[in-house]
Amino acid sequence: MTAIAAVERNWGIGLAGGLLADLPADRGYFRGHTLHKIVVMGRKTLESLPGGRPLPARTNIVLSRNPSFRADCEVFSSFEACLARLARENPKDVYIAGGAEIYGRFLPHCDACLITKIDADLPADSFFADLDADGAFACVWESAPQSENGFVYRFARYERKGAAAPAGGGNG
Ligand SMILES: NC(=O)c1ccc[n+]([C@@H]2O[C@H](COP(=O)([O-])OP(=O)(O)OC[C@H]3O[C@@H](n4cnc5c(N)ncnc54)[C@H](OP(=O)(O)O)[C@@H]3O)[C@@H](O)[C@H]2O)c1
Repeated sequence: MTAIAAVERNWGIGLAGGLLADLPADRGYFRGHTLHKIVVMGRKTLESLPGGRPLPARTNIVLSRNPSFRADCEVFSSFEACLARLARENPKDVYIAGGAEIYGRFLPHCDACLITKIDADLPADSFFADLDADGAFACVWESAPQSENGFVYRFARYERKGAAAPAGGGNG
């Protein structure tokens, strides 16, 4: 499984239920990686999407502890049941798409993370784990800086140390 997230310098990912920066090319990067694949997200992230609707052209899997929560996609109230469902898939096709609670829960099961690193200190109330401090992962690739909407950012790929070599590069 691969986690995919955009972070500011302190690994902040969100504020007041929304994203920290509007980066259209990063949305394209996310889309390029996840299209026709499986995206896993928390109920709050689902509700932050346009219209609160699942992402098109992807298998969306949403977690909510509320057993009566319904969405126009697969919903799991149990993390273990969700993991069992994901075990039927090729792990390379599974993208963990946030938010903070879901990243935290799934990170131990991820062998790679695609991190868009925004070169700015931005106020945030939800965070991704600091992979540079987390001894389990190493940054194996970083793009040239991109500039958009007043932000400079880089696409980075982290891999779990000791994991098998990945298929394909960081971009897509
Ligand atoms: N920068 C990025 O790349 C990025 C990506 C995605 C999201 N975000 C941001 O992240 C923030 C949202 O993150 P968040 O942590 O507040 O919310 P979240 O992870 O999107 O969703 C949390 C919800 O997921 C459900 N959940 C979590 N763990 C569960 C478990 N073990 N079993 C069953 N259900 C579980 C619960 O839903 P119920 O409350 O319904 O029980 C929980 O309230 C927003 O600001 C969003 O914009 C940023």
